[in-house]
Amino acid sequence: MTNTEALFTPARIGDLELSHRLVMAPLTRNRAAADGTATELMATHYAQRAGAGLLIAEGTTPNRVGQTYADIPGIYSDSHIAGWRRVTDAVRERGGRMFLQLQHGGRVGHPDNSGLVPVAPSPIALPETIHTASGPQDAVVPRQLTTADIADTVADFVTAAQNALAAGFEGVEIHSANGHLLHQFLSENTNRRTDRYGGSIENRIRFSVEVVTAVADAIGADRVGVRISPRGTFNGIQEGDTETIYEELVTALAGENLAYLHIVFADPKDALFQRIREIWPGVLMANPNLGWGVPLPEDGGRGAAADLVAAGADLVALGRSFISNPDLVERLRVNAPLNRLRDEPLMYVGGADGYTDYPTLAQIEAGERAA
Ligand SMILES: Cc1cc2nc3c(=O)[nH]c(=O)nc-3n(C[C@H](O)[C@H](O)[C@H](O)COP(=O)(O)O)c2cc1C
Repeated sequence: MTNTEALFTPARIGDLELSHRLVMAPLTRNRAAADGTATELMATHYAQRAGAGLLIAEGTTPNRVGQTYADIPGIYSDSHIAGWRRVTDAVRERGGRMFLQLQHGGRVGHPDNSGLVPVAPSPIALPETIHTASGPQDAVVPRQLTTADIADTVADFVTAAQNALAAGFEGVEIHSANGHLLHQFLSENTNRRTDRYGGSIENRIRFSVEVVTAVADAIGADRVGVRISPRGTFNGIQEGDTETIYEELVTALAGENLAYLHIVFADPKDALFQRIREIWPGVLMANPNLGWGVPLPEDGGRGAAADLVAAGADLVALGRSFISNPDLVERLRVNAPLNRLRDEPLMYVGGADGYTDYPTLAQIEAGERAA
């Protein structure tokens, strides 16, 4: 069997049987209602992509202060549960399986988006602008979380995970990547605390470990994945001690029997990727580095996915290729041509344009467009 053929063999996450190894990565698209409720349009979008072995729904905030941008979804109210239930029903009707990514933005947020001053491990502003309804604005200095706030935030993650199951998700992915709150605790340049959540590596991994273990205790470890982005610099992150901190974090989580560990921008040739594969006893999901800010490769990541499987990944997550190809898995299976991703501005604005109007191969052949 070739490495590409291996992509299309069955896999498991906990009790879930997946018919192949391609996962839709979490993709923020700012299509929720103003109060964070998932919309019918989102149900259509995800249902179109139900052919993914697993879909990971976009970064969704576990509480109001964790909201990053305008029109991103939440999972902390009855309306949020009902909105996401419509999405998971639509996906399940098409045979799809879905986890929800729980994303607390920490300092990646703005009072104009959430109505609240963002919170973070330390009062250090994101050195970038934040997109708001009135355009990009300088980030504000976040309020430093007290230890009592940290305990409350862990509890919010637990409630959010329980809400996600009530909304019909199979499980949740805890976002400890890409410069969001959990990553801000891991990284030296965003965590200047002198209490038990800052300083040593043991202290800086504490918040991620507490969130993950509390959520696993509440909903079952086999329903909990974790996303990490070693070496990632999104949102002003400079980790400092990448090798050691991820070795410690992964070791601390290795005994938990989690659903999976998900690595962003995984490079099969990176010694750290190989080391994590050695330490991590469970399902390893890898998101290949296809280049950022550049057009995607013609094959949409098929070759990179096969290389990661050859290097020991159990599952491969793809992002942008799923945006422009609702039937991505079928196209990769038969090596069919792919739709090209249209303009980047369409990624983070409301509406069907660039969201639900990418055609499947069958629709192109029949001369139709997507709904
Ligand atoms: C429009 C867009 C939105 C994204 N939103 C999220 C998100 O909500 N959570 C997250 O962990 N990563 C997010 N990412 C990162 C993707 O999950 C993925 O790691 C990245 O796009 C690289 O994979 P790709 O090359 O297959 O697109 C986003 C990326 C894009 C392009």
